[in-house]
Amino acid sequence: MTELSTSPCSALVIFGITGDLAKKKLFSSLYELEALGQLDMPVVGIGRTAWSVEKLREVASESIGFQRNQQLVDAIVKQQTLDCLDYIQGSYDSTALYQALVEKVGDHDHILCYLAVPPETFAKIIEGLGNSELRSKVRLLIEKPFGSDRSSASELNRLVLKYFKADQLFAVDHYLQKESIQNLLVLRFANRILEPLWNRDSIDAIDITMSETTGVEGRGQFFDATGTLRDVIQNHGLQILTALAMAPPNSSSPKDIDTSRQNLLKEVQTLSFPDVVFGQYEGYQDVEGVLPGSTIDTFVQASFCVDNERWQGVRWSISAGKALDKSLTQAVVTFKSAADPSFIGEACAPEVNKITIVLAPVESVEFSIQARSNALSMGTALTHLSSSTNYRPDEHLDAYGRVFDSARRNDHSGFAGPEVVDQSWRIIEEVLGSKALPKPYPKGSAGPSA
Ligand code: BG6
Repeated sequence: MTELSTSPCSALVIFGITGDLAKKKLFSSLYELEALGQLDMPVVGIGRTAWSVEKLREVASESIGFQRNQQLVDAIVKQQTLDCLDYIQGSYDSTALYQALVEKVGDHDHILCYLAVPPETFAKIIEGLGNSELRSKVRLLIEKPFGSDRSSASELNRLVLKYFKADQLFAVDHYLQKESIQNLLVLRFANRILEPLWNRDSIDAIDITMSETTGVEGRGQFFDATGTLRDVIQNHGLQILTALAMAPPNSSSPKDIDTSRQNLLKEVQTLSFPDVVFGQYEGYQDVEGVLPGSTIDTFVQASFCVDNERWQGVRWSISAGKALDKSLTQAVVTFKSAADPSFIGEACAPEVNKITIVLAPVESVEFSIQARSNALSMGTALTHLSSSTNYRPDEHLDAYGRVFDSARRNDHSGFAGPEVVDQSWRIIEEVLGSKALPKPYPKGSAGPSA
């Protein structure tokens, strides 16, 4: 059996390449990798749909143009990306599919296999790969949600371990690869000025918002079996919370960072009612793939309690939803009122310091601080100091580009370890098990009214 080493993968296999994730994110990330000269490997797409290689390339070409704004696409880079693509059609439980795959990539020592498929298909692919000649060569990337609750996640983990070693598994949560999340650790732990204030003595509340204007068109069937709590709170939302709340890791090594994440999640209290509000946008049930009378949540607002010395009494919230009034992903850290109120002008509203970490639409960190508003009196106003992370475009890879790149290099730091996944399910399991009916809200609104 070939030992899994740190040698980079030289082939990429994407199960579910005909699906929504590939169209919305993956083709564009492959283009970015190619633009950086880092793709450099065959990409074999697998799907159940009867596509030719030409059809796959046509869809990928459109998707790259659409995702990246046609004018910014370099035609040569795009063509090189498309030239890497190959396609196998087959059923995920047919031995013939894995034989065809062995023929295409069997001579590579390390192969990235990305499962961008609906969760109910994971087991078939894990078994198919596990019973194939590729088993020892595979780095297995599994898209979230990893399981549909705590027990199915641990069952999925057991199934993976039946065929693969623990370090062959990469549980994908692309938020862990986002620049703002990775930068948050640097912002908190590499600067002297924040850490002494990063606790209940100075901070009043932390509010995380993941608001999307789009609905679930094109992925109704997946979404209707999943809902917002599983789709983005159990993973992305709790990863943002973790990056904001965790204690400084012993070092910046992936293992120490994962330990710090695990320890923090263990201290987050299990969610219960009435700390959660579910919503469903009007018109959701007309989306193709959604069952009539569905009670799935397209909106969640939840309050969390981090039960440790640093955070006791601080209010944490995560709200996320589809078909809302704005497209915005951010975390707002609200500090307690002014250090010395006598320096705040009388006419001024009692505004407080805030740090806003924006993940989308444009990554930035904004500090709101008090400053004198005019030279003649003691008026003050909140002033915003903003730093958008300003990387040279040729160094920039989006989150899915980083997913491919890190797993390819066998770097586990931007992936969720099994304990992190387990704790995240534990936090939401009580409300998953006894869900209240969602409140309706109009499309384009801020969510259900209180
Ligand atoms: C995905 C969810 O994991 O994350 C989607 O399945 C959601 O429903 C998406 O829209 C949000 O990701 P991003 O990177 O666009 O914020």
